[in-house]
Amino acid sequence: MSKEHRILTGITTTGVPHLGNLVGAILPAIKASRQKNTTSFLFLADYHSLIKSSDSELRHQSSFDIAACWLACGLDPTKVIFYRQSDIPHIFELAWILSCLASKGLLNRAHAYKSAISDNQVKKIEDIDKGINMGLFNYPILMAADILMFKADLVPVGQDQKQHIEMTRDIALKFNNHYGEILTPPEAVIDKNTGVLPGIDGRKMSKSYDNTIPIFSEEEVLTKAIMKIKTNSLEPREPKDISDSIIFTIYKSISPKEKVDELQQLYNEGIAWGEAKKVLIEELNSFLKPYKNEYDKIVKDKSFVEKTLLEGSEKALSISEPIIKEVRYALGIKGF
Ligand code: TRP
Repeated sequence: MSKEHRILTGITTTGVPHLGNLVGAILPAIKASRQKNTTSFLFLADYHSLIKSSDSELRHQSSFDIAACWLACGLDPTKVIFYRQSDIPHIFELAWILSCLASKGLLNRAHAYKSAISDNQVKKIEDIDKGINMGLFNYPILMAADILMFKADLVPVGQDQKQHIEMTRDIALKFNNHYGEILTPPEAVIDKNTGVLPGIDGRKMSKSYDNTIPIFSEEEVLTKAIMKIKTNSLEPREPKDISDSIIFTIYKSISPKEKVDELQQLYNEGIAWGEAKKVLIEELNSFLKPYKNEYDKIVKDKSFVEKTLLEGSEKALSISEPIIKEVRYALGIKGF
């Protein structure tokens, strides 16, 4: 018998679901959740969204859209534990505990924080911490709490999140050193093909860069996004390189191998960029269609989505409760 695994992943609720979420996180996580000997924890990282946005309406709408997206893509709530982070107060209690173990130096080295500082330095702002909230600084700790709260051992994430998982390991080991073997140091699971999908400007597809391809909006919105994809200045009939083509990389993430080979052939033959974009639009529309149909049905039934999440939270709490008790006990936070 192979070992039991707990797989956990979350999505921050700051925008409409996009192709990067779908092929980078949602579909692989749903596929993994169907494997034997695994329990999957899939959640809406709604409290993470406070770091990036103060728009309450957006947060609320985004949580709903992303929940509906998970369900439309085939998440089976009877088989996985599907919940809102904010419904599990134990996570935030653990985050405080972990923050008292993590060294400030460790968090100084987090990519998101370092990049915010370097933006200030580039702008020659004297106070390098200007505009940086403590949420951004502590973000890796909240993420560690998300993971350690459920003793998850496998965390599928994009390459850009790898550092956070390493920090989670560090913090878990430190906890265990002080208080006994309670927490499980997790491992990142990074899928090389789909880990980080480029957005229309070539950087990681992300709400923060405003370079996403939304998946459940009108067809015109999708077309417009694809038309904006950056290409080089090669003319029609000039052979084109697939390795630095955003269009090709996105196409590859959603298509079977035969189709990918066909497009590669067209590149060799010098397909015009406008044509390549059309091929991608067509492929995307047919790839997304079944998910879109499901999504349109699900969004009409808000109470179904709410009920599903509340049931998921019940299950999640039944697992986090004994763990947080074990943690408190080990810390000496207990009755007399
Ligand atoms: N930080 C992740 C992202 O922005 C979202 C996230 C929050 C997460 N907590 C997590 C992912 C725990 C994996 C595990 O994409």
